[in-house]
Amino acid sequence: MYRTHNCGELRMAHVGNTVTLSGWVQAGRDFGSLTFVDLRDRYGITQLVFNALDDAELCERARKLGREFVISATGVVRERSNKNPNRATGDIEILVSNFDILNASKVPPFTIDDDTDGGDDLRMKYRYLDLRRSPVQNNIIFRSKLALEVRKYLTGQNFVEIETPFLIKSTPEGARDFVVPSRLNPNQFYALPQSPQTFKQILMVAGLDKYFQIVKCFRDEDLRADRQPEFTQIDCEMAFVTQEEILNTFEGLTKHIFNNTLGIQLPDFPRMSYDEALRRYGSDKPDLRFGMEFVELNDLAKGHNFAVFDSAELVVGICATGAASYSRKQIDELTEYVKRPQIGAKGLVYVRYEADGSIKSSIDKFYTPDQLKTWLQKAGAQPGDLLLILAGEEEKTRKQLNELRLEMGRQLGLMKPGDFKPLWVVDFPLLEWDEDTQRFYAMHHPFTSPKKDDVARMLTGDHQTMKDLRADAYDLVINGVEIGGGSIRIHNRELQEKNFKLLGFTPEEAEAQFGFLLGAFEYGAPPHGGIAFGFDRLCAVMNGQSSIRDFIAFPKNNMGRDMMIDAPSPIAPAQLDELYLALKKV
Ligand code: AMO
Repeated sequence: MYRTHNCGELRMAHVGNTVTLSGWVQAGRDFGSLTFVDLRDRYGITQLVFNALDDAELCERARKLGREFVISATGVVRERSNKNPNRATGDIEILVSNFDILNASKVPPFTIDDDTDGGDDLRMKYRYLDLRRSPVQNNIIFRSKLALEVRKYLTGQNFVEIETPFLIKSTPEGARDFVVPSRLNPNQFYALPQSPQTFKQILMVAGLDKYFQIVKCFRDEDLRADRQPEFTQIDCEMAFVTQEEILNTFEGLTKHIFNNTLGIQLPDFPRMSYDEALRRYGSDKPDLRFGMEFVELNDLAKGHNFAVFDSAELVVGICATGAASYSRKQIDELTEYVKRPQIGAKGLVYVRYEADGSIKSSIDKFYTPDQLKTWLQKAGAQPGDLLLILAGEEEKTRKQLNELRLEMGRQLGLMKPGDFKPLWVVDFPLLEWDEDTQRFYAMHHPFTSPKKDDVARMLTGDHQTMKDLRADAYDLVINGVEIGGGSIRIHNRELQEKNFKLLGFTPEEAEAQFGFLLGAFEYGAPPHGGIAFGFDRLCAVMNGQSSIRDFIAFPKNNMGRDMMIDAPSPIAPAQLDELYLALKKV
C-alpha cells in the first residue's frame, strides 16, 4: 500500500496512529540528530521527521533525499513541538520508521513553490513540474469544479450535453481557421471549429430544444493574455426563447457558479445598451468596479481660442478621485501612456483641483479658474481630485479615454480583488460598415438576427439607412472582461440569404458554405438563440487573474507553440506526400 492518507489531511486527532504517506520531497532540513523532510502531494504538505538516535542509518538515507524525489514513508503521527499555524497539517509531524524511494529526481530547473523563479518559457517546457505548484494546481482543480457546477445547473434546467464535430468546414467568425488536410479527399481540407455555431443551430432545427457543450474552439488569431489558439467555451443554444429568457437563464447560471464555487452571491445584473456603454465608458465592456464615468466638455471647452479643443469633434474627461496629489512627473508619465502607439492620443490635458480649492491646469493660458471650475463642477470633482481630458475624433477619443480610465483604475487601486461587477451589454449594432473595403461586416456573426423593428430597414439594402440597425445580441461582461456573447438567430431562409448578401457573399458562395443551414431552415426551423461563455476567461476572472494560461493545463505560448511537446513541428516527407502537400520556402 503506497498510502493510508494524503499529505494534507492529518490533524491532532490522528496523533498516535501509524500512517503511510507518499509524495514528493519539497524540502529537507538537517539539524544534527534530527532530519526534517516536507512531503508534498496535491492535498498539502506534511512534515516528516527522522531521528538519528532511533535509527542512524534511516536518518542518513533521509539526508540524501533530493528535491522532488518520490518517496513513501511510514511512521507514527505525533504532535509537533514547534507548530506551524500557516499549514493545515502544521500541528503534527510523522516520526518515520521506514521509507522507500519510489523514484529519484533530477534537480528541477526552477523552484517548485508558490512563488517560482522559473520564467514563462521554462515553466511551459517543464509544465509537469509547473503543474506541481499549488497555485497552478488549484487553478486546474477550480476549473474542474466549475465545469461540474455548469453541468449541474444546465442539466438541472433540462439542457442536453451534445458533442459536435471537430473536423468541419469553416465558420466565418472573424478569425482565421486552423485547417486539416484530408488524406482520403485529395487537396481538400477540414477546418477546426472556431465555435460550434452552425451545429448548435441545426440541433435546434432537430428539436433538441436546449443544448450545451463544454467544448474546445480553435482560432488562428494574434495571441494575448486572454486569448489562446485553442480555448474552451460553455456553448449553449435554446429554441422558442426570447432574449429576455436567455439573459435570465444565463444570469442564473452565472449566479449559480459564483455561489457554488466561491460562495459569492451576486445581485441581479444591470443592463446597459452598447451605445450607453460607449458614451459613459468608451468601451463595450466597461469595468464597473469603479466609476470615473466620462464627462463631455464640448459645450464648456470650445470657443476659447484653444485650437486643440476647438478643432476636436469631442472633448471628454474623467475625474480621478484623490489624484490631485499626482506630481508633474506622474502626469507626464500618464501623457506618455496615452501617446503610446497602441493608444494613439496626441496629448493629455489636466485640471487639478487642489485640496485648498485652487485650480491648476495645463491650459491656464486659455481658460480662467472660474471657467475651469465649471468643468470640475460638471465632473462632480471635489478638492483633491484630478480631471484628465482628451480631445479629438469622437470614436477614437472615447477608446483612448477608456484606456486611460482603466490605467487610472489600476493606479488608484480601484480594481479590488474579490469584487465582481457583472453587466449585460445589449442592443449591439447588427453590422459594421468598413470604409476601406466598402462593405458590411457582422458585428457578432452572420447568423445574428436584427431586432424585429429593424427587419424592414435591413431589407432596403441601402447602407446609409442600415447603418444603425440593431441586433438582438448581447455580451456578458464581468470586471471589464468579455466573458460571453450571444444572440437571437435568424431562423428564416430569406432573411439569412439577405444577410449573407449584405455581408458580401454571392448566392453561390452562401450556398456552398452554408447550404446545409439554409436548407435546414426550410424544414421547420424554430425561433432560437444562445450564448457562449469563454470558459478559460471565466476561470481567470473568478480568480482575479488577467491571464488565462494558468487555468489551462497545457497552454500555448504567444507564438502559438506548445513548448513541452515542441509543436508545431515539421512532418516527414512521406506524410506530406500522402496528404498531397508540398512545402514552400519561407
Ligand atoms: P464569441 O466569438 O463572442 O461568440 O466567443 C464567445 C466567448 O469566447 C471567449 N473567447 C476566447 N477565449 C479565449 N481565447 C480566445 N481566442 C477566445 N475567443 C473568444 C470570449 C467570448 O466572449 N458562436 C458565438 C457564440 C454565440 O453566438 O452563441 C461565439 O463564438 O469570452
